Amino acid sequence: MSGLISLLALTGALYMMQVYDRALTSGSVPTLAALSALALGLYLFQGAFDAIRSQVLVRIGARLDRKLGPIAHKVAIEMPRFGFSTTESLERGRDVDTVRGFLAGQGPAALFDLPWIPVFLAFVYILHPWLGVLTLTGAFVLAVLTIASEFLTRRHAAGTRAAAIARNAIADSNARNADVIRAMGFSGHAVARFKAANDEHLTLQTRTSDIAGTLSALSRVLRMLLQSGVLGLGAFLVIKGELTAGAIMAATVASGRALAPVDQAIANWKSFVAARASFARLRETIGALATAVQPMDLPRARRFLSVSNVTVAAPASGQVILTDMTLELRAGEALGIIGPSGGGKSTLVRALVNVWPTLRGSIRLDGAELGHWNEDALGRNIGYLPQDVALLDATVEENIARLDPSPDPDKVIAAATAAGIHELILKLPQGYRTPIGPQGSVLSAGQRQRVGLARALYGDPFLVVMDEPNSNLDTTGEAALKDAILAVKARGGIAIVVAHRPSALAAVDHIAVIQNGRLAAMGPRDEILSHGSGSSVHPLPDKLSRRKVS
Ligand SMILES: Nc1ncnc2c1ncn2[C@@H]1O[C@H](COP(=O)(O)OP(=O)(O)O)[C@@H](O)[C@H]1O
Ligand SMILES: [Mg+2]
Repeated sequence: MSGLISLLALTGALYMMQVYDRALTSGSVPTLAALSALALGLYLFQGAFDAIRSQVLVRIGARLDRKLGPIAHKVAIEMPRFGFSTTESLERGRDVDTVRGFLAGQGPAALFDLPWIPVFLAFVYILHPWLGVLTLTGAFVLAVLTIASEFLTRRHAAGTRAAAIARNAIADSNARNADVIRAMGFSGHAVARFKAANDEHLTLQTRTSDIAGTLSALSRVLRMLLQSGVLGLGAFLVIKGELTAGAIMAATVASGRALAPVDQAIANWKSFVAARASFARLRETIGALATAVQPMDLPRARRFLSVSNVTVAAPASGQVILTDMTLELRAGEALGIIGPSGGGKSTLVRALVNVWPTLRGSIRLDGAELGHWNEDALGRNIGYLPQDVALLDATVEENIARLDPSPDPDKVIAAATAAGIHELILKLPQGYRTPIGPQGSVLSAGQRQRVGLARALYGDPFLVVMDEPNSNLDTTGEAALKDAILAVKARGGIAIVVAHRPSALAAVDHIAVIQNGRLAAMGPRDEILSHGSGSSVHPLPDKLSRRKVS
């Protein structure tokens, strides 16, 4: 298509030459009319091909986006688990936008026109070799400028991107902490921190833009200089009697057209570099997913959970947080996990629900290691209430039903009832269909926690893991929590609850004490809770014995 467009772009030059050398010299109006009609037709074709080319490029971009957008988003969702900031993860999703934006813009047309420059060079060369050599020299100088801009901007591109991510991460964190910043009046400091990152980004950005802008201006001037040069040289050749007047005009137009793509390429170099970097990252992103084998579907778990010699490290830093954890629970049992803050309780929970990988050891449901489950099938076996409950920006119903587009209302209501929040949801403005808002602002912290509990209980998963589920609950909420644990046990599931307050432990059979990343003690609930700190079998943390006394 670009080849055709480039050939058709010779229309102007040929028309000019024919008008000067044929129509004007012969003084024939019919010749002029015929030439004009021909030129008009060719121009229309050129326009049509140009339009088709740009539509094709837009569609290629959209098709790429439709295919890769969801995959890139899946990676973006996964990345925070491995210690990347949300800003950095979202950047991955934006890579697709960058590539699509580039394909739909002026850049690709310029790049596709580059290989057709010889067509124009040849045309000018045929008119007169000297003119050809002059244009070729111009093209060479411009090409050197393009390569120079590539090398000069490449060095800064990565730094600029990193600076932009750092700046956006600060903006994101400030926005999320708006209440705290406002109440304690440190918006000045928050803005100053943003300003420092912004300045850094601006400095790099300015440097890149300076290089691109200077080279772009230089190339434009060179192009004009060359056009006038061709005209001057042509005039000299006419005076010498080696060229016709029409050929001068044609050579001027053709040499200008020959260099236009180079000029365009330099002008679009920045977006080309950005799109290329995005594309490389996308390939890496997609590659990372492509190597993951989707395991076979397994039947729902019904029998037991076994954790053997599990060691867990933080994915971001690789620092070992939990060492050599072993425990086993059968269907119908509930385990309470207690211990001081920072001991590793939430870490164990994250490993149990397959959010964090294990460094050593294995976690199995009905004998099958978590990693051997199909992701979605495993998810249906697991209910997880994280320590910091965050709800999705969707309706209450969609949140409870885990975004299932056509949830079974009975299952949603059953889960809400089990979490003791059914009546409360009915009182909301639009009941189950109430949108929760971007920060879950419709609900109080305690209500969010109970909607989170309902989501964990939705679909009767085999393993229900709750990380400090009662931290925001009142007495009715705690009673509902206890009933929910009893219900999980009654239907043959396994409940694991991390708790600081003993009220949440009323319904559990066993208690594990986790301290300094190790299992400090484990046993039947009453035995653990009644053991003094002097016990030699189950050494108990001071905190626990104090709690028992109170
Ligand atoms: N994402 C993380 N990256 C690195 N270290 C972490 C991360 N989350 C928690 N830790 C560290 O692991 C330790 C245990 O944390 P956690 O399991 O949350 O304790 P608990 O839930 O018992 O209060 C803490 O010292 C904490 O600093
Ligand atoms: Mg915790």
